[in-house]
Amino acid sequence: MTLLSSKMSRIKPSPTVAVTSLTAQLRREGRDIISLGAGEPDFPTPDHISAAGKRAIDDGKTRYTAPDGIHELKTAICDKFLRDNDLTYVPEQISVSAGGKQILYNALMATLDEGDEVIVPSPYWVSYPDMVAVSGGTPVVVEGRMENGFRMTPEDLEAAITPKTKWLIFNSPSNPTGAGYSATHLRAICDVLLRHPHVWVMTDDMYEHIAFAGFEFSTPAQVEPDLFDRTLTVNGVSKAYSMTGWRIGYAGGPEPLIRAMRTIQSQSTTNPCSISQWAAVEALNGPQDFIADRAVAFQRRRDVVVDRLNEIDGVTCPKPDGAFYVFPSIAGLIGKKTPEGLIIENDEAFAKALLQTSGIAVVFGAAFGLSPHFRISYALADDDLTQALDRIETFCASLS
Ligand SMILES: Cc1ncc(COP(=O)(O)O)c(C=O)c1O
Repeated sequence: MTLLSSKMSRIKPSPTVAVTSLTAQLRREGRDIISLGAGEPDFPTPDHISAAGKRAIDDGKTRYTAPDGIHELKTAICDKFLRDNDLTYVPEQISVSAGGKQILYNALMATLDEGDEVIVPSPYWVSYPDMVAVSGGTPVVVEGRMENGFRMTPEDLEAAITPKTKWLIFNSPSNPTGAGYSATHLRAICDVLLRHPHVWVMTDDMYEHIAFAGFEFSTPAQVEPDLFDRTLTVNGVSKAYSMTGWRIGYAGGPEPLIRAMRTIQSQSTTNPCSISQWAAVEALNGPQDFIADRAVAFQRRRDVVVDRLNEIDGVTCPKPDGAFYVFPSIAGLIGKKTPEGLIIENDEAFAKALLQTSGIAVVFGAAFGLSPHFRISYALADDDLTQALDRIETFCASLS
């Protein structure tokens, strides 16, 4: 009998976490590394939110809570859904977890049986296919091509749906491309879903508030209220409020699903951190104006990154609608050689050579289901970003 379960053969460690760990290791070895790999804002958690966390400690709010969140936070989440998304949820339809990641995981664990299919549009966030697989489901990848702005077409969605399809996992603005679905794009997706009442929608709206001029965020149940009863609307405080380490994510959805997710959570982590929950109450109920200022700062960086990458021979970089990532194609560099003789056979070889020779950490496209691309997170200070782009330019120019 082997120690590890057969489940382990279906999943791999997160490639983005692996890049972060490798970067830390190389830095410990004294290498000068600039990481464009991290999926988190470089801004600090705002003071008023941190103060609420400290107050929670001082007030002794340090005990177990209800498994899927304190009532005050659920109410704040209902208010947020109404304020931002025109969605009316009641606290019984809300679940709070240790990050959006745990929400997604709980939902898949609660609903998938062996053989159930989950449609995952690519390029996808690295965790979706593995979370589906470990929950017993089968990921069905629908490719989003660069010429379609990395968006899944309604025709491709229609073709991927079978009687075994349980969920569509939907993410806009997207990690890793930053591509957003406008209300018009979403309308066409919703029309397909209306024709298939057995398909549920898990919409990951984590980057809702990092949306740039010309793009307006919408979420499926808002665009098509008839989908409300089979939609899990997932969001969190990690990206909008720079609270990645606090680990609070949440979702609104039909009560039977929320109850099942609560059962899973009560038998795993019990509840999300009590202190973080109080900080999240302040995040959602407190001032919201800094969010737009931060989005403007991200948009300025996006423009610099996109312009500079497009000046590089062999690199093509579409302009994202939101989030803090770009996902350029390196089709024009495949087959070239570094001065040290390394051949750029694919995007993984590109990312390795870029790290080894130039000290720039990026994540290769295959990790997100689309090659030959790489992902840059531009959530870092202007000077570091300029230096990183200089090094990428020099590295690409050195290839022959
Ligand atoms: C698309 C997407 N969804 C969900 C998450 C998870 O966020 P968290 O667990 O920090 O709430 C991330 C984090 O990188 C993400 O990029």
